[in-house]
Amino acid sequence: MNVITNPTRPALQDELLRNVGRHVNKSFDWNAFPSNAGFPELARAQMRYIGAGGSPKVGDTSTLKPEHFTLSLIHKPVGNYAACHSHEIEESFLIIDGVLTVGWERDGEVVEVRLGPKDMILNARDVGHGFRNDGVEPVLMSISVDVGKPLPPVYLYHPKNTAPELARSFGAEPGRTLHFDRNSDHPLQQQMSRNVIRFTEQPTIWESAGFARKVYVGEGGIQNDTARKEMLGVPRGVGVKPYVRDVEDAFFVLEGSLTVGWVDEAGRTAEAELGPRDLLLTPAGRPHWFRNNGMTDAVVWSVIGEPGAEKVRFQAA
Ligand SMILES: [Fe+2]
Repeated sequence: MNVITNPTRPALQDELLRNVGRHVNKSFDWNAFPSNAGFPELARAQMRYIGAGGSPKVGDTSTLKPEHFTLSLIHKPVGNYAACHSHEIEESFLIIDGVLTVGWERDGEVVEVRLGPKDMILNARDVGHGFRNDGVEPVLMSISVDVGKPLPPVYLYHPKNTAPELARSFGAEPGRTLHFDRNSDHPLQQQMSRNVIRFTEQPTIWESAGFARKVYVGEGGIQNDTARKEMLGVPRGVGVKPYVRDVEDAFFVLEGSLTVGWVDEAGRTAEAELGPRDLLLTPAGRPHWFRNNGMTDAVVWSVIGEPGAEKVRFQAA
């Protein structure tokens, strides 16, 4: 954009920066989940970007206000697990580092799937789920709950009232754990299979504007009636013209960097460069754009606060 006809507006710049969550300015909270207190094997740390997610810490003023979804990071140390619980709404786990074992339980049977970097599971409504780090490095993942303020989780197998080994296996007695199999006709396997996205299995869609998308939740990915979730690949030097949505959307940079901009009614702009693990939340109705001005290609996780097909026709800038 030409700075003479489109001067930067300082108030817009401030507003934009208030909607940026910088990884280095945020902290991991080891006390985000009171139900884990006293159980070191359940310990995990949460960094909240949008809303509180599954934590009751909804009053945290350092996070952005959620509308249709929350977004946080979770750090899970090697060997630790999360007790099997359910929610009234969908919740996704996108793995960033490490390998996470996720279990779904029904009637004492558990299906376990191992997810690696850029794999995602959308935990279905009212299905008991837990997770465990059986790997050799900590797991870092991004969790989004598909509602601004979820109800507290319902614990199904918590070590406070379940034998430790049964809690660690998410409620499966010995011999009742099934390993994830997309070809199984077991109903819980089939349900989980519909909700597991592997990065390497999803088609890469090249937009005519010059960037790539892998759809995780939405048309071409998991069909659901809440938020859309996509992985974007933005080559160096590629950018798009301003576009606007009826709902909020978020960019969370996984690799490289992305310059993001807002435009006001008079055509004045504001922009910021997001580095790895930085986030921008753009509210509904705000024209915005992105461009990779960085030194490497960028990989960006994108969450959009509505279901359905992509309505935006992206145009190269
Ligand atoms: Fe959950």
